[in-house]
Amino acid sequence: MTARRQIAAGNWKMHGCGADLVELAEIASAAKPLSGIVTLLCLPATLLDRARGRGVELGGEDCHAQPSGAHTGDISAQMLRDAGADFVIVGHSERRCDHGESDTDVAAKAMAAWDSGLIAIICIGETEEQYRAGRTEQVLAAQITGSVPDGATPENTVIAYEPVWAIGTGLTPDPEDIQKTHAAIRATLATQHAMGGKMSILYGGSVKPDNAKVIFASPDVDGGLVGGASLKAADFVPIMQALNASKGGNQ
Ligand code: PGA
Repeated sequence: MTARRQIAAGNWKMHGCGADLVELAEIASAAKPLSGIVTLLCLPATLLDRARGRGVELGGEDCHAQPSGAHTGDISAQMLRDAGADFVIVGHSERRCDHGESDTDVAAKAMAAWDSGLIAIICIGETEEQYRAGRTEQVLAAQITGSVPDGATPENTVIAYEPVWAIGTGLTPDPEDIQKTHAAIRATLATQHAMGGKMSILYGGSVKPDNAKVIFASPDVDGGLVGGASLKAADFVPIMQALNASKGGNQ
């Protein structure tokens, strides 16, 4: 394994119809010269097939733990792969909260992703209450234990640290706290998985063009998982460029 992957990942959530793929075209053309990073868009499943082959990596936003079956409305990792995805987000806090997904569910989804050849982006993050109580590192360690299955490697897994209180709020932890938390996550991963210390760890939660540079400057931050600011090329491209510049890639 060489250097950790540096990833500018967008998460469109439940946003985007065909007409919005015009943003993808702009993002793809800006991504071309950015040699040091992976530009990834995690899109609604309905857009994946139309977005494939257009110059950015694609991911799904969730998958079922089973490859197929009687699960109306769900989508399997295999289906995402078939539609053009190479990655899938699992365990996003909106899934954990809106759909009651447990660490065990998330781990099962990550294994389903691997079985279909997808890289699992496993999300972890503390709530505001846990943050205020000073329990962040403890909560994250428990989520890692429960959500990151045996067999996780830097090739098949990316971790996304997203404080729940920072998502969509415009709030972020101080850059020093982000670095400290990422280092703690890396240390926990290293104790639980043979190559755990080498996994890419993305920060997510209100990453914007104006704070990206300072967030990405932290040595244990390997990119961002970006929600709102990934919907428009005008916001996402400067974030991609900030990551590429801070990790020493060509412009
Ligand atoms: P945000 O979302 O960038 O809009 O805060 C991040 C995420 O939920 O992945």
